[in-house]
This record gives sequence, structure tokens and C-alpha cells, in this order.
Amino acid sequence: MEQSTTVGVIGAGTMGQGIAQIAASAGHGVILVDRDEAAVERAMSNLDRILKRLVEKGRLDPGDSEAILSRIQTSSEVSACAPCGLVIEAIVEKEAVKQAVFSSLESVVGDAAILATNTSSLSVTRLAAGLKHPSRFLGLHFFNPAPLLPLVEVVPALQTRAGLADEMSVLMRNWGKQPAMAKDTPGFIVNRVARPFYGEAIRIHEEGIADIATIDWAMTELGGFRMGPFQLMDLIGNDINYAVTESVWKAFHHDPRYTPSFSQKRNVDAGWLGRKTGRGWHDHADGATAPVPRKDKDLGQDILWRILVMLINEAADAVFWGVANAEDVDRAMKGGVNYPKGLLEWAEEVGLDRCVRALDDLKAEYGEERYRCSPLLRRCAEQQRGFFS
Ligand code: NAI
Repeated sequence: MEQSTTVGVIGAGTMGQGIAQIAASAGHGVILVDRDEAAVERAMSNLDRILKRLVEKGRLDPGDSEAILSRIQTSSEVSACAPCGLVIEAIVEKEAVKQAVFSSLESVVGDAAILATNTSSLSVTRLAAGLKHPSRFLGLHFFNPAPLLPLVEVVPALQTRAGLADEMSVLMRNWGKQPAMAKDTPGFIVNRVARPFYGEAIRIHEEGIADIATIDWAMTELGGFRMGPFQLMDLIGNDINYAVTESVWKAFHHDPRYTPSFSQKRNVDAGWLGRKTGRGWHDHADGATAPVPRKDKDLGQDILWRILVMLINEAADAVFWGVANAEDVDRAMKGGVNYPKGLLEWAEEVGLDRCVRALDDLKAEYGEERYRCSPLLRRCAEQQRGFFS
């Protein structure tokens, strides 16, 4: 795809605004569409502010900043996307609303235009099924904040024509992104593999093994994660995080590995959603004192190891089921959620035998399917081979 191709972005919210910035920064003319005119105006003034800040920090020339902004046109009508060779949809996460937008789009864009969705949780294949020409459709899943996080999950639908996902991966690389190819399965790579970061942390807390401050401390100070699970849930919003867990759990036919937690549901019910409401797991009110972690290294290493081994198990299982290859699973977790190290690389460092033993011990202790070891992890450990080809 040439730089001269005009890129349409539908939805000028958090994600659409970021995607428009990325495409315009890569030299494309962009048409940013939102049915809410105020949303478009907000997005353009946000972009203006963000680009000015980049100029102040010396990361962008003033001329480039103006050129990027001038490449973005706005509209409240999907029909404005008629000249686009690629349209990326980033509107509300509702299948029927997305289907309606793609139907309108198909009646205005040319036959060669590629259509993409930024959905996090809907089936790309089901969305494709609503199109007249599903072979030109796929998922391009960016991460928030899109201009900063390098990962884009490239998700072909069953109907996507051969070669299109590879072409889009090249385009994403040209846009400065790191694409990872993912099979159209619930949560794709990141939203599936990351579940234990939250779920196992909450479980450790619910069992009374440690308080949330100590768990956050163990994961950041001992594990090198940028944020602890409870700090991160409060940033994402417990409502959003709970909804993602619940949707993955339902999509996997209630697999106990993804069972949502009662205590997080209680937070949601209480309106303790996190930073946005001033209270979540932590108290974010002005002047609130942060709880003090129990900096006990032995306890911390338990905590870290139990969450890590569950993450490793998910990563291995995603490879086992062909969701992505080992390289892309590791790239995804580093590029989409800032993990300090690829999980499979980490597993090989600590020893696959040790991971299998830890999972078997947890399964023996609790007797729960939640702790079953991925066949691939066990196989690699037994055959003394790694995940990477
Ligand atoms: P948002 O709520 O910030 O923005 C959505 C925008 O779409 C709103 O401005 C709304 O007016 C507009 N819109 C709704 N229906 C429309 C229609 N029929 N035609 C034109 N515009 C319409 O949402 P956000 O967070 O940007 O999410 C957008 C999509 O990206 C969703 O599918 C979401 O699942 C996905 N996503 C969100 C991430 C996040 O962290 N926020 C991360 C990755 C994907």
C-alpha cells in the first residue's frame, strides 16, 4: 500500500484518534469520521495538543506537526470515506452497530478498498460474514495509547483473502508498528494471555495470602512489571477489566482458567471502578495514604512465581492452539502491555521443568482445572526443547 493511499478512520474516540495520528504521521491522508461532531472536534484539539507537546520535547519538527494535522480531514458521514483505500473502524464495541457501519462503507468505497476493525472482543469472522465482500476484511487491533504502544495484532477472518494479512503486517511495520499475527479466537493474543495477571493476583488476595499492596510490590519490584495488577486494574477501570474477563470466560465456554472474581465484581457493583471514580482496589482520593506493602522477599517470590507461571502457561497454550507462534506471543506481551520480558523466553530462562512442577503442584493442591498444565509446556519440558524454532 502506497503512502498516497487515503486512510479512513471511523470513530474519533480514544483509539480512532490515536490511529489517525499514526496513519497521518506515516504520510497518509486521513479521513477521520465520527457521527458525533463534538467527538471529532475533541479529537482534533487533542491531536493538536499532543503534537505541540512532541515539538516542545524536540521529538517532532514544527513543520512536521503542521503537516500531520493538515493531512487529517474530518467528517460526520461515513460516505466521506469514498476515496479511501483502507478504512479502520474504531467505534463502539457493539456488533450490530459495527455491521451497520461496514454495510454503509461497502456502498461507498471502491472494490479494492480494504476494511479493518479494531475490535478487542468481537469475532472478526462474524463481522466479516455481514459483508458483501468479506475477503477484503480483517482485524487490526491496536493498543491504548496507540501512538505509543508498538503492538498491532493482525487478525485475518476465516474469509480474508490469502496474503492480505501479510500485506497489512508490512504496512503496520511501515507505520513503525510491531505486528503480531493472531488467529481469530477470543481475546486474540494479549487479552487472552494476560488474564492471569489479574485473575491469579485477585485469587492470591482472596485466599488471604497477601494484601493488594504487597502483590503490587512483588510484581513491580521483584518481577519488573511497570505496574502491579491492582494498580493496573484501577487504571484500566474495574468495569472494563471485569467485562473483558467475563467475555473471554464466556467465549471459552466457562473454562475455569478465566473465571471472573467475586471481589472484582463487588468493586464494580459498588462503583469502585478505579482512578476514574476516585476509588477502586486502591483509594485514589486526594490526600489518601497509600497502603504499605509487606516487603518480605520470600513471600514476594511466591506471589511473583505463582502469577508468572500461570502467565507462562497461557502463553504456551496460545502457541499450542495455534493462536500465534512463540515469537509473536512474546512480541505481543512486550509490545502491547509492556511486559518486561517475553513469557516464553522467561519460561526457558527459569526452566520448563520447574514451570510444569509448579503447575502440577497447584493442581494437586487445589484439584482445579484452572491449574492444568498446557500440553505444549509439558511436551517441551519432557523433550528438553524450547518454544522457538
Ligand atoms: P470510544 O468510546 O472512546 O470512541 C468510540 C467513538 O465511536 C465515539 O466517539 C462515538 O461517537 C463513535 N461512534 C459510535 N458509533 C458510531 C457510528 N455508528 N458511526 C461513527 N462513529 C460512531 O471507544 P474506544 O475506546 O476508542 O474504542 C473503540 C474500539 O476500539 C472498540 O471496538 C474497542 O473495543 C476497541 N479498542 C479499545 C481499546 C481501549 O483501550 N480503549 C483498546 C483496543 C481496542
